[in-house]
Amino acid sequence: MSSVAVILAAGNGTRMKSKHPKVLHPVLGEPMVLHVVKALKDAGVDHMIAVVGYAASQVEQVFQGRADFVYQERQLGTGHALLQALPKLAEYGEGECLVVCGDTPLLTGETLQQLQREHHEHQAKATILTAMMDDPTGYGRIVKEEGRVVSIIEEKDAPPEVRCLKEVNTGAYCFDIQWLKQGLNQLKPANAQGEYYLTDVISYLVSENQPVATWTIQDPFEAMGVNNRVQLAEAQARLKWQVLRRHMLNGVTMTDPASTFIGPWVEIAQDVVLEPGVILEGETFIDEDSVIGPWSRITNCRIGRGTRVCQSILNDCIIGPECQIGPFTFMRPGCILEDQVKIGGFVEIKKSHVDQGAKIPHLSYVGDSQVGKKVNIGAGTITCNYDGKNKYPTTFGDHCFIGSNTNLVAPVTIGEGAYVGAGSTITMDVPPAALAVARGRQRNIENWRKDKES
Ligand code: UD1
Ligand code: CA
Repeated sequence: MSSVAVILAAGNGTRMKSKHPKVLHPVLGEPMVLHVVKALKDAGVDHMIAVVGYAASQVEQVFQGRADFVYQERQLGTGHALLQALPKLAEYGEGECLVVCGDTPLLTGETLQQLQREHHEHQAKATILTAMMDDPTGYGRIVKEEGRVVSIIEEKDAPPEVRCLKEVNTGAYCFDIQWLKQGLNQLKPANAQGEYYLTDVISYLVSENQPVATWTIQDPFEAMGVNNRVQLAEAQARLKWQVLRRHMLNGVTMTDPASTFIGPWVEIAQDVVLEPGVILEGETFIDEDSVIGPWSRITNCRIGRGTRVCQSILNDCIIGPECQIGPFTFMRPGCILEDQVKIGGFVEIKKSHVDQGAKIPHLSYVGDSQVGKKVNIGAGTITCNYDGKNKYPTTFGDHCFIGSNTNLVAPVTIGEGAYVGAGSTITMDVPPAALAVARGRQRNIENWRKDKES
């Protein structure tokens, strides 16, 4: 099996009408090109070469080191793009390679494996992944004679009798590297777009009497190339339902799939219930029996078994089992909640560890904090963690109790089992088991109202 692949990702995607490179437009929350990377990984490819050009450094970044990069300075066509990859390809041997476009986010690893199998079976020098499209507009057409490929003709160069052909080039191929090299070196930009077409390698191989095979994908949608934002929306809608279906068939209940969005890398265990308007993104994992929703957005979080989240936004957090979050909680990156923690309405929490059974039930800001076991933080408590320059930590010992409307000026430690009176502004550490009160004493002026009116 071939273990090297080239991803063509240097184009800017003129038809997207965007300043962002096409392959970085998100599909289900992840850059389009990463869907292609995932398919190649699933197919067992171990070396990827990405051809980058337009906004190259941005494109490189999303790969996070999962590919080698070659540069195509001017985008002179798909053939010219692949030509740039030849020296790098040579480092991985002289066998075969897969070539895919960065704008086909629905392609699967299984299909690419099948493409390779066909390539071997036919002992071909090139095998083209094709699709039968009811509406082939915009794709290169596969021209065959007596059942054998003779060429691929781009729509802009195609006469009417070719335009009506429904078998199209998906832009994914398996090539013999030596013949690919020869083919690419022959390319001329003699066509409607003045570009070096990779597709012209096919007619070259045919003219050299080399075997070229095709394999037609079952589901034409899988072959879909995204060239404009309508196709982007179509690809997204398609993938969204595939992902939702997979989770439902694995035992996840969705009360309103239409309003539910789940990113491609999210994992969900059995008997999780997703209520309307839930968005799960990034590398999120939800464990068994949890109930998420309605209207929650969870990005890169791990959520323990039997936890309930309601109308909340959670980013980059780890949440233990049997916790209760929300409604209207904002959890910012770096929070770790142990089991049975309650974080309630209008609470913002950031970079804090909250131990087992602690409660922050209402209207608080807790940042850079260690919250001990079974701590109770009253309504309106604020950790004043920032002096305009630096951030400072707050420590709450186990079992301590913070009265409502308290300011804790960090760095500060509330000792184990200590109490803080409501309305305090705490600027010094509180010893274990003590009661701290830091507020003006109440003074009652008798008969004040009568005096005032007389
Ligand atoms: C291409 C194929 C077409 C096929 C379709 C499938 C050619 C000539 N045409 O057309 O037969 O049906 O894909 O979706 O190959 N790219 C570069 N450098 C360039 C030009 C393009 O890296 O100079 C990259 C793009 O970033 C993109 C991919 O190659 O990821 C395809 O380019 P695109 O312009 O979208 O080709 P299509 O017109 O769709
Ligand atoms: Ca395309």
